[in-house]
Amino acid sequence: MLECDALEVAYGRVIALRDVSLRVQQGQVVSILGANGAGKTTLLRAITGLERPRRGRVLFEHREITHWEPADIVHRGISHVPSGRQVFGNMTVMENLRLGAYIRTGDRRLAGDVARDMDAVLELFPVLRARVRQAARTLSGGEQQMLAIGRSLMARPRLLLLDEPSLGLAPQVLEGILGALQRLNREHGLTMLLVEQNAHLALDFATYAYVLETGRIVQSGPTSQLKASDVIVQIYLGLKH
Ligand SMILES: Nc1ncnc2c1ncn2[C@@H]1O[C@H](COP(=O)(O)OP(=O)(O)O)[C@@H](O)[C@H]1O
Ligand SMILES: [Mg+2]
Repeated sequence: MLECDALEVAYGRVIALRDVSLRVQQGQVVSILGANGAGKTTLLRAITGLERPRRGRVLFEHREITHWEPADIVHRGISHVPSGRQVFGNMTVMENLRLGAYIRTGDRRLAGDVARDMDAVLELFPVLRARVRQAARTLSGGEQQMLAIGRSLMARPRLLLLDEPSLGLAPQVLEGILGALQRLNREHGLTMLLVEQNAHLALDFATYAYVLETGRIVQSGPTSQLKASDVIVQIYLGLKH
């Protein structure tokens, strides 16, 4: 479904991604595990057209999208939940969700369709239902993460990109969110690519993972195999549980 082919992204003289190649199959949950500064956010931004790769290609459903505009990429079926959530704090929950539906250019969906999609999001995250008229800034961190995911879902993506969904969330709150994401994958076949520095999450939630170190993919494989790898255990899993 998604293929990155020898991507290179630089910020001036700083090369953030070098020769990054990866694949995500339809229906799969894939993770990119990497420490702070490894290039995880840059990779997602390159896929969604927010950074311009110097080299390499991005293909989505066999079509090259490398230099497309971000809005066209969303319209094509890729939605991005940014790091730090970035909901619109002064807008209500409902307004944030509605914005997600209209972010696709050329979208002429009927109001009824939007209402149905919103209802599906509120069913997935019931705590948001009681808060639809509240300003997003009044929500807890976990609720804002739910809203950010919900807003992305309103664009009806076939591929969902998640930038460190665990950041700053208590384990219990995170568990609820992961459960909802799992439901989306199992029941709706939504394909996901998530980037994480939380190794337990990256390796437990996904079935296949890539390890990114200072802009390069240094290891990849089914998560069941990576979890047993000495290097992964020592560097990523060993220090804390
Ligand atoms: N806008 C930017 N300008 C210059 N350097 C950047 C910019 N964004 C990220 N970088 C650098 O690129 C590298 C990768 O950053 P990033 O993709 O944010 O990593 P991660 O998300 O894994 O923490 C880091 O060295 C970071 O300092
Ligand atoms: Mg990041």
